[in-house]
Amino acid sequence: MTIRIPLTLPENSYEILIAPGCLKQIGTEISSLKIGKKVLVVSNPEIFSHYGETVLTSLESAGFEPSTHLIPAGEAYKTLDSISKIYDTALDYRLERSSAMLALGGGVIGDMTGFAAATWLRGINFVQVPTSLLAMVDASIGGKTGVNHPDGKNLIGAFYQPRLVLLDPDVLKTLPDREFKAGMAEIIKYGVIWDKELFQQLESAPDISDYDSIDPGLLQTIITKSCQAKADVVSKDEKEAGLRAILNYGHTIAHAVESQTGYTSINHGEAVAMGMVAAGKLAVKLGMWTQEEATRQENLIAKAGLETSLPLLDTQSVLHTLTTDKKVKDGKVRFILPTEIGAVTISDAVTPELIKEILETDI
Ligand code: GLY
Repeated sequence: MTIRIPLTLPENSYEILIAPGCLKQIGTEISSLKIGKKVLVVSNPEIFSHYGETVLTSLESAGFEPSTHLIPAGEAYKTLDSISKIYDTALDYRLERSSAMLALGGGVIGDMTGFAAATWLRGINFVQVPTSLLAMVDASIGGKTGVNHPDGKNLIGAFYQPRLVLLDPDVLKTLPDREFKAGMAEIIKYGVIWDKELFQQLESAPDISDYDSIDPGLLQTIITKSCQAKADVVSKDEKEAGLRAILNYGHTIAHAVESQTGYTSINHGEAVAMGMVAAGKLAVKLGMWTQEEATRQENLIAKAGLETSLPLLDTQSVLHTLTTDKKVKDGKVRFILPTEIGAVTISDAVTPELIKEILETDI
């Protein structure tokens, strides 16, 4: 079944297309955008070995002249140096204003390709084809693009919306199990912050822990509901002036976990899962959320095969990381806290003492 979710913005609205097998239709879909013939496909070698040929063939059949730029996989390559290399290829192939860059990969490829597209010739067409569950439901939607600075993740970037996001759930069959679970953490997040029914569907499903065990129909439904949640939020607050911050539920502690553990042993989704459990505990301690619902959240995270406890962290360093996070406002750490399943609030009531308590007593 083909689903098209509109993401409506004052300027640059676009569609999120979700359909198993739609990678083969990519050329036709891009044709409807009325862009020039040149399309630079940016990917990493592994993803490209699985899906590159399908994408290039589909583009060629639709009359496009695709070229390719590959970047080694991994966060370590999410740098300005990699962007510079994309520009070199763009120059070699003489990409024009009417041309497009197409990101075929996970969040790292999507963020970098978006930033290169935003800046090449002051902005050319950009298409997102996410291949990880996490990129499908989060990173590919909403126009956050950028790279890391040696001193911090995503410090350099731009809001730049794609012309189209094309999701083919079939590509998840080659995604490692661990990354599938990481994406499921963000799906659970949408259930807690926005969509109670999504949460309940995940709760009542027999198994959500990996691609082979989850019902394919349910997988498409939960991807669709997550994309719809993200589209709803972004369309109300494109540049994160307010509401969009709720998408960072679980991310405040998650960023501290990631930075303390060196971004390697614990991946982003795993850190978000732990961060959501910690935020849930904070909300319960502040009397904002019931213990019963916090337990339901924790059980669902465990059901997805994700760790719910924080690793042992250095409290002082965590507090330092939290107060220097780019989302800190007027020196206050703002937490997104659940008030009921399907609803959150933005709070600055969390004190350093309370954070210390969560870090030191609840592991
Ligand atoms: N990943 C959070 C956002 O797109 O705002």
